[in-house]
Amino acid sequence: MNSFIQSVLAEADYKSERLLQMLRAVQAQYLHIPNTAIEQLSQALHIPRTQIIAVAEFYSFLHLTPRGRYDIYISDSITDRMLGKEALLNYLAEKLKVKVGGVRADGLVSLSNTSCSGMCDQGPAGLVNGYPLTRLDVAKIDLIAALIEQQAPLTEWPSELFTVTEHILKPGLLLNQPFSSGAAIAATFARGLSETLEEVDLSNLRGRGGAGFKTALKWRTCSVQAATPHYVICNADEGEPGTFKDRMLLDLYADQVFEGMTLCAAIIGSDQGLLYLRAEYLFLYDKLQRVLQQRREQGLLGLNILGHDGFDFDIEIRMGAGAYICGEASAQIESLEGKPGIPRTKPPNSVICGYQRKPTAVDNVETFLAATHIAVHGGQWFADVGTPQSTGTKLLSISGDCARPGIYEYPFGTRISDILQDCGADEVMGVQVGGPSGTFISNRELDRTLAFEDLSSAGSFMVFNNTRSIFAIAQNFTEFFAHESCGFCAPCRVGTSLLKNQLNKIIDGHGAAVDLEELNELCLLVKNNSHCGLGESAANPILTTLTAYPDLYLKQLKHSSFSPGFDLDATLAIARRMAQRDDDAAHLSQVEN
Ligand SMILES: Cc1cc2nc3c(=O)[nH]c(=O)nc-3n(C[C@H](O)[C@H](O)[C@H](O)COP(=O)(O)O)c2cc1C
Ligand code: SF4
Repeated sequence: MNSFIQSVLAEADYKSERLLQMLRAVQAQYLHIPNTAIEQLSQALHIPRTQIIAVAEFYSFLHLTPRGRYDIYISDSITDRMLGKEALLNYLAEKLKVKVGGVRADGLVSLSNTSCSGMCDQGPAGLVNGYPLTRLDVAKIDLIAALIEQQAPLTEWPSELFTVTEHILKPGLLLNQPFSSGAAIAATFARGLSETLEEVDLSNLRGRGGAGFKTALKWRTCSVQAATPHYVICNADEGEPGTFKDRMLLDLYADQVFEGMTLCAAIIGSDQGLLYLRAEYLFLYDKLQRVLQQRREQGLLGLNILGHDGFDFDIEIRMGAGAYICGEASAQIESLEGKPGIPRTKPPNSVICGYQRKPTAVDNVETFLAATHIAVHGGQWFADVGTPQSTGTKLLSISGDCARPGIYEYPFGTRISDILQDCGADEVMGVQVGGPSGTFISNRELDRTLAFEDLSSAGSFMVFNNTRSIFAIAQNFTEFFAHESCGFCAPCRVGTSLLKNQLNKIIDGHGAAVDLEELNELCLLVKNNSHCGLGESAANPILTTLTAYPDLYLKQLKHSSFSPGFDLDATLAIARRMAQRDDDAAHLSQVEN
């Protein structure tokens, strides 16, 4: 066996659950996953080679054929497009004489689009050999092309190409609060484990990853499971376009996030934690390892934490390899087990049968951060802020048409119009709250609020002004879902492509009234028959833009085949039901001319 593969296996302790980490290392070394490596890994790990190929084929940053020595991806988020990404991509392709989606004949460079790279506040953005390129412009593209032609190592590239800035523009309850390492663990043990869980319950903290599940209920359910061991997973996949608040937390508040995981471990009885870090955040990896090491040295990780006999816990970082679906908790667990990230059939839920089929608490980065403050200050302190159903505050990643993109923290219940004023948004046409899987609202709905009971968001908040095309937005998001569908179930695999085609037909001016009706039905089919949350939300961009601006869709129809008997408002009933809207603004008769 070749010595490189041997070292990769040794680094992974010959554990097949670390297959993805091994394949990442092989990809970095050989620029693809060669057959010989597959054979050797298969023999050493006792897993079929077809399984390894299936993993390599599943993730966008792994390849069975060679990529260029400089492997460039340009972020295709709608905000990157609004900042001129398409022209820059084509310019770079032209300069380097490489096709978008291809590898140059001499193997020096490859260039592709990628889904949102988590830099929407500093786009247009991209990645080179896994490291972020930010605020791209023509001058930077010229420089990058020259550096590649000179074959300059990345370590010699000017650092400003890679600068990631964390703009915290409105800190609140969580970000303003001072915190000292170990304080939450100390408070938890001083109060008692079950008493601290009671405080988390009292706080009514709900998961910040999107679904809003009650954290105390999840932790309690996990803690009482007889099967052992129990696991803690921090979900740092942050793939929803427009979201970058977890990036900021891991960059600036990692110590506290790890403390939140440790606190969870004490409560649920776990001695092993995993941080699933999205591939696009590779630049944070070394820094996070240093924070972990520091915590070990401070007695905040390892054996007998803070002197508590028998409380042992440590955290391992595992990298993703480019798959939005791996943010879904059960898909993430599959990925952490070294498999393609295909969501599991539920029940049983991960809290009962998760990582390695053992009880597992999977939580978002922000959820762990919030838990540390609750442990120190108590549940009521948190519950006093926000609304009864949505307590506390929410971190928003604001991007798009506004003067001040960045991170903002708001109490739940804040009006959208207030947020828009803070970030300097004018002439607003609409806002996408919660990313493509969330809700598009029109400028007639800006008095709605940020809350689980009204507009919920895992963190993405994209602003669009009156110069933007509603169709470009719906198209970009619909393409995103078609691209990111894991392909496991037909309603999503086929349905997302059909949605894309049907939407394009209407946008291209070839649609008749019946096509809009069909689009609605297709949305319903995909939403109601898909296996997981991705498919369930894949029609949201169409449904919510259609509900917000039905007149624009209507105008786009080919009038020659317009049927006079067709009642668009009645047809939109399906869209309204699914968007849970029946107010005046959602009806055609209310549309302003
Ligand atoms: C397609 C899809 C992608 C998701 N991506 C993320 C993600 O990037 N980060 C996250 O915390 N939760 C994500 N979730 C939600 C997780 O499944 C899960 O509910 C969450 O991690 C639980 O943590 P919480 O209770 O702290 O929110 C995603 C869900 C779906 C369906
Ligand atoms: S709904 Fe889509 S992403 Fe989810 S399992 Fe089915 S194909 Fe995969």
